[in-house]
Amino acid sequence: MQAQRRTVFKLAGAGVAAASAPFGLSACSADSTGGNARMRTKNNRQLRVKKADVPVGSGVIYPDEGYVVTQPTAGQFEAFSDVCPHQGCPVRQITADQRIHCLCHNSYFAIADGKVLDGPAPTGLTRAQFSESGDEIIVTGVQ
Ligand code: FES
Repeated sequence: MQAQRRTVFKLAGAGVAAASAPFGLSACSADSTGGNARMRTKNNRQLRVKKADVPVGSGVIYPDEGYVVTQPTAGQFEAFSDVCPHQGCPVRQITADQRIHCLCHNSYFAIADGKVLDGPAPTGLTRAQFSESGDEIIVTGVQ
């Protein structure tokens, strides 16, 4: 019996319909400046996240603020820009095997450090600055 591979959708602030639709694909135009412009304008927002809302061994994508917050191991948090370094699509999926997936051209990034694992992305996801305060993670911008 072939093992069944389950895909985990973690998308904050979006309903199931939005999470299951390949939204973000329209952002994959040939415009090479789209991603960078988006990164500059969206990734200076502050985001406050309850630590308990970030699953261990996975993460949550916050499309409105443009961040991905992950918890690779219990109590260890990371934050990244959600802008794929390939052509600027926002990443929109975290897989069950602990990878952040850009649906546009199938680049995959590690939840632990954002490094590119597969696909055409030339570099990993940009790290975001964050701090921990009690039961919250506070993301303040890209590094
Ligand atoms: S924009 Fe091409 S893989 Fe992400």
